[in-house]
Amino acid sequence: MSNTLSARPYLQEISIRPDADIDLNSYPFSIPAVQELNFLKFHPDVTFFVGENGSGKSTILEAIALAMGFGPEGGSKNVQLLYTTDSVSPLHASLKLRKSFRKPTDGYFLRAESFFNVATYMDAIGTPDRSLHACSHGEAFMQLLINKFRGNGLYLLDEPEAALSPNRQLAALSAIHQLVQNESQFIIATHSPILLAYPNAKILQFDGTGIAEVAYEDTEHFAITRDFLNHYPRRLEQLLGDE
Ligand SMILES: Nc1ncnc2c1ncn2[C@@H]1O[C@H](COP(=O)(O)OP(=O)(O)OP(=O)(O)O)[C@@H](O)[C@H]1O
Ligand SMILES: [Mg+2]
Repeated sequence: MSNTLSARPYLQEISIRPDADIDLNSYPFSIPAVQELNFLKFHPDVTFFVGENGSGKSTILEAIALAMGFGPEGGSKNVQLLYTTDSVSPLHASLKLRKSFRKPTDGYFLRAESFFNVATYMDAIGTPDRSLHACSHGEAFMQLLINKFRGNGLYLLDEPEAALSPNRQLAALSAIHQLVQNESQFIIATHSPILLAYPNAKILQFDGTGIAEVAYEDTEHFAITRDFLNHYPRRLEQLLGDE
């Protein structure tokens, strides 16, 4: 295998352990994408998770993060907040990971909903120059991406676009590219048709039948956004009715 000699992907593949305790009727194994999770291979540069709300992207990203040693609240690996959430799924314990011979030296798990907590923690341990709390949501995220992520890293990001204006999403693409050129691997759950355009990537579509690779222009994100922007007066008329 050609992969065996290259450092990336740091996380090469995940599957469900054969001895895992699986209850198909309850979360998380009730989710089709989780049931079908077998020998899922990651791109050395960027792997995107896309799919309808509730299709299991965050569940699987969180399980990967925990299995890789990140805290459930997110952040870098040395961020282990004193309290834990009860909402963490047990999936991480059922995952089998295939990893590179080389470990990443940097990393971050961005859980959109807990970014505030992590910013608080980083304030407490003392961060250089400007507190992340003194930034807007998007400014703080761009700070992380440009100034804090050092490269040679594994970065797990859940909907980073939530913080970003379209212009900053373009800037994020270029920051991601810089980090990729600096030996980093990203796994990103996203709904953003802008981020998804990143070319050195594999897009994994989650749906009711499991997980399948899809080309950028075949994603709903691309097709629906393009159609809407090109025909929005007509689409609005259809959606809202003629009054
Ligand atoms: N702690 C939990 N306990 C039980 N069910 C859960 C829990 N967390 C999520 N779920 C359910 O699991 C399914 C997948 O949720 P998940 O958050 O992984 O979806 P997602 O693909 O990230 O969606 P979105 O695009 O809206 O972020 C959903 O039906 C959700 O209601
Ligand atoms: Mg989610």
